[in-house]
This record gives sequence, C-alpha cells and structure tokens, in this order.
Amino acid sequence: MKTMNVAIIGTKFMGKAHSNAWANTPRFFDVGIKPVMKVAVGTDMAGTQKLADTWGWEEASVNWREVVARPDIDIVDIAAPTNLHYEMAMAAAEHGKHIFLEKPFAITVEQAREMYAAAQKAGVVHYVNHNYRRVPAIRLAKRLINEGFVGRIFHWRSTYLQDWIVDPNFPLTWHLRKEVAGFGVHGDLGSHSVDLARYLVGDIQTVTGFTSTFIKERPLPGKDAATFSAGSGESTEMGEVTVDDASFFLAEFANGALGSFEVSRFAPGRKNYNYFEIYGSEGSIAFNLERMNELQIFSRNDPAYAQGFRTILVTEGGQHDYIANWWPPGHTIGYEHEFHHAVYDFLKAIETGGSIEPNFYDGVKEMEVLTAVIESAESGHKVSVG
Ligand SMILES: NC(=O)c1ccc[n+]([C@@H]2O[C@H](COP(=O)([O-])OP(=O)(O)OC[C@H]3O[C@@H](n4cnc5c(N)ncnc54)[C@H](O)[C@@H]3O)[C@@H](O)[C@H]2O)c1
Repeated sequence: MKTMNVAIIGTKFMGKAHSNAWANTPRFFDVGIKPVMKVAVGTDMAGTQKLADTWGWEEASVNWREVVARPDIDIVDIAAPTNLHYEMAMAAAEHGKHIFLEKPFAITVEQAREMYAAAQKAGVVHYVNHNYRRVPAIRLAKRLINEGFVGRIFHWRSTYLQDWIVDPNFPLTWHLRKEVAGFGVHGDLGSHSVDLARYLVGDIQTVTGFTSTFIKERPLPGKDAATFSAGSGESTEMGEVTVDDASFFLAEFANGALGSFEVSRFAPGRKNYNYFEIYGSEGSIAFNLERMNELQIFSRNDPAYAQGFRTILVTEGGQHDYIANWWPPGHTIGYEHEFHHAVYDFLKAIETGGSIEPNFYDGVKEMEVLTAVIESAESGHKVSVG
C-alpha cells in the first residue's frame, strides 16, 4: 500500500486528538494511503518527545520550519495556536505538502485569502478542521435538508456555550490574547457555528453583531498553563484580556433565511453546548453536541395526530455516514471519532486526486463572516460579508 509521511505541529489538546486519529484511522477505515507518523513538532523537546513516544511518532522536533521543508514529509498537520496558522500553512504550501489545519483558519481575511491562493497554486489537498461536519448526526441533518425534509429554510438558531473561563482567576492563556488567538470565543467557537451554518443553510450575506469582554484583566499564567486544564493563575501579576468573552450576532443568509448565533465561554454548566435548530416550510431539525449521537426532527408531513419532535439515534451502519466502520447499532461514538472521519476523508481526497470540505476556500468564507461581525460590533451597524 502507498504510504505518506505526516508531520504534526502542536502537541497538546489538538496534538493528542489528531495523533489518535492518525494512529487509529487505518485500523477502522479502509484507507488507500497509509499515513506514517513521522515527526511530532512542539516547543519543548521533553513534551514533544513524550507525545511522540505515547502515540508512535518516529521523531520529535522543536523546529517546525526545518520539518516542513523536509523532502520526506508529504502531509503537514497544523495543530498550533491560531497566529501560527498563516506562516505554517504558507510554508507547507510552498514546499508542496498536503495541509490539515486547525480552526479558526487565520487571524485576518487577508491572511486567509493568501493561504487559499497558495494552497491552490501548490495543487495540494487543503483542509480546515471543522470536525463537526463529520458527526454522523450532522451528516444526517445535511442529507435530510438535501432531500427536502425541511423544505425552504426560514431560520438558523445556534448557541455554542462553554464555561471554562468563568472563574476570574483563570489565567491569561493564549486564547485570551488577540495577537495569538485573533478573536476570543467568537473565533474559537463562533468559527465552528459559522461553518456549520454555511454547510447546512448556505452563505451568509449580512451580519449585525455584539461582543463583550466581561473580565478585562487576568493573572498571568504559569509556564505550563496553556490549555483548558490551566486552573487558576499562578501569578499575582495581571495582564489585559484583549479578545471578546462572548459574541452574539444576527445574520441574513443569501437564500433569505435569518440566523442567530450566540457563543460564550461564560455559561456555567454548559460544557460543550454546540446546539443548533433549523426551521423550514416542511419541518425542523435540532442538534446538541452534548448528545451527539442523536438528531431531533419534526415533520409537518407526518399525520397531524402524530406530529411531534422525534429523536433518531444516529448509529445505524449502512444508514448513517461513517458508522459501519465502528460498532453495532446503539454502541455510540464520541468526540474523537470526528477526527478519524476527517483523516479518512483527507486521505481519500489525496488518493483520488480530489478535494475535501471544509477547505481553505471555506476558511476564507469563515474569516469574512467573523471579521464582518467584529466590524459590526465596533461600528454599531449592519455589515455586508466579504
Ligand atoms: N477542532 C476543534 O474542536 C479544536 C479544539 C480545540 C482547539 N482547536 C484549535 O487547535 C489549535 C491548537 O489548539 P490547542 O487547544 O491544541 O492548543 P494547546 O495550547 O493545547 O496546544 C498548542 C500546541 O502548539 C504548540 N506550539 C506553539 N507554538 C509553537 C511553535 N512555534 N512551534 C511548534 N509548536 C508550537 C505548543 O507547544 C502546544 O503543543 C488552535 O488553532 C485551536 O483553535 C480546535
């Protein structure tokens, strides 16, 4: 079987999720190209070596530029903070590598457009990891929409809520610094909601937004405090939060539908509440990531005496996307499986000379929407996207 060498940049939350997917996708899916886990790249050698040893990366490195330029690397997986996406993706494209890139896509629309152009010019497969497109229940939602179950779409309504920074002592990690993260929760979770809305409803034409930063200063982090598990600040010295803590916006879609989007990391009790509802002329769909194996649907075409929301358990192999490669019906899957589905489709795109969505084009579209919302929030006006 043909093999391809993969280098991953980033060793923590996404580094682990992606490593798991590169290691195990060929064990569950019939891949035409076998990924070889060649190099893991991080910022500290000990931590990077630990990831390599745990997941089976052959080498560890702290020099991503050198690794991306290596002729024996075929695929570059970028799982580093957002400010690095642009230079890493540009370098990967320049060296002709296929690119598997985390979201949010970039810091600015200009960067996003350059990244898309560079990847297209290089003729490589490019992918932005909006992993939720590969939840089987969301695939079912897409299928039902395509088949007319919802009819003409009137409304998109989404919330993506978490609570991990509600404690004012949570330290000022990179997620809360504009120069590293670009946006706050607006980019972190909002980019996922925008991508899902574009996938399921269509392009967004105008936006009217509000953002707020509830906690304006936080303790500076200890040197290991980079992730969700950072805990309380380890310093009495304070630093300024330079991104949004919450973002709400209203949208007009090109097809005439209206949408509302709410994202916050200040919603106590909501852990990963990626929830959306779609209402149309024939029926409705609702999804909640915290119950990710289920899809709720309502049809106006059911007999009037038997109408009501019903819940589909989306675990039927042969009926529901990706499921046949996992377990028998009802033996539910989880968050990590989305990453396997993405790796499988990414390898398939390389093998067939095709493409995968969402890709860098979708990354540009995502950035245009996110940026327009910030412009609207700052100006107090409705803003056209793009
Ligand atoms: N798709 C999802 O569901 C999802 C979830 C969380 C994060 N993300 C995205 O993934 C990316 C990484 O987030 P994370 O939560 O894994 O962050 P993290 O803080 O847990 O890990 C970041 C990693 O990047 C590495 N890194 C930083 N600078 C580097 C450099 N110059 N060279 C090499 N490595 C470097 C760090 O060593 C660390 O291993 C972000 O863009 C984030 O938005 C996506």
